[in-house]
Amino acid sequence: MFNSKIIGVGHFVPENIVTNDDLSKLMDTSDEWIQERTGIKERRFYTPGEKGSTAIMAFKASKLAMKRAKVTADDIDAIVFATLSPDYYFPGSGVLLQEMLKMGTKPAIDLRAQCSGFIYALSVADQFIKTGMYKKILVIGSETQSVALDLTTRGRGMGVLFGDGAGAAILEATEDNTKGILSTHLHSQGEFADVLCVREPGTNKGGKVIYEGQHEMYDLISPQMDGKLVFKNAITRMPEVTMEALAKNNLTIEDIDMFLPHQANLRISQMVQRFLKLPDEKVFNNIQKYGNTTAATLPILLSELWEEGRIKEGQLFALAAFGSGFTWASALIRW
Ligand code: ACO
Repeated sequence: MFNSKIIGVGHFVPENIVTNDDLSKLMDTSDEWIQERTGIKERRFYTPGEKGSTAIMAFKASKLAMKRAKVTADDIDAIVFATLSPDYYFPGSGVLLQEMLKMGTKPAIDLRAQCSGFIYALSVADQFIKTGMYKKILVIGSETQSVALDLTTRGRGMGVLFGDGAGAAILEATEDNTKGILSTHLHSQGEFADVLCVREPGTNKGGKVIYEGQHEMYDLISPQMDGKLVFKNAITRMPEVTMEALAKNNLTIEDIDMFLPHQANLRISQMVQRFLKLPDEKVFNNIQKYGNTTAATLPILLSELWEEGRIKEGQLFALAAFGSGFTWASALIRW
């Protein structure tokens, strides 16, 4: 059996910086409220009309990851693409990226696990590598969320939280089973599907895909969330799934060199850090700059750490995420 080693990571975020003050001009909110409740100072939005999309951002992140990994698209055997904001309703963005990278007829797998998407995608890629089916896999988290946000006072509960961006990681098979992805742990709980969702376009009514009528449309196509319930579950599940990963590998909290929590809210990350009794220098947050970029969050974090030269051989990374579904997941990676 092989292990999967991450040999390169990359990211891309749009140039358009949207500050809390910018949002305050569109809705009844304030920099103070947003920072106090979420830690977010600014986020990146695709400039309307600019040629761009979830797949194009993924392409740019992939190029950087490939450069850092010193591989070309020809070397890659498959794509696993996580997003909740695909370019089309179908097909998924994976095939669009596959075409942009000129990967012939190599497979592209699309995955929907929202904020847990990147860890789910890592896990799927890891299984293909473990069995020996593929040697190198490009794993993507990419989101263009700004286009679906209601940036009026009515949508402020969600509108201030999200941003756009993409991250990519290249996994390679290694026979050294002390290195790479040590394990991944995935969970979901569909009874909470309605707590954080976008209903349309969907088939849940068994009738027309899109309702007519303004009011109904708003409730269906805008993201809906019971923020407090999501918060409560996130701060419980993220420590729980991190402990599950440590127990599986006979490791303890003290063994973690770097903890990367999904970035939904700085207060969530801080509470998770406190539950796990992790010191500040081991926890990495960037929600202040980007907001919640959903499946893109963790690969963006990894890519920034790579850029800053903070990833060192032998270090143990713990990744944990929680989001819509509910879904939650963790991964332990030895560099
Ligand atoms: N600006 C100003 N006031 C606001 C805003 C805003 N942007 N948004 C809401 N408010 C108001 C509300 O209307 C409410 O006013 P009221 O008391 O008069 O009714 C008040 O502020 C408090 O609102 P709450 O929703 O109770 O605020 P809370 O402290 O719970 O914070 C938040 C909201 C930030 C959304 C928090 O609940 C949270 O972070 N939840 C978890 C988010 C998360 O983890 N999501 C998962 C990932 S997303 C994914 O998977 C796609």
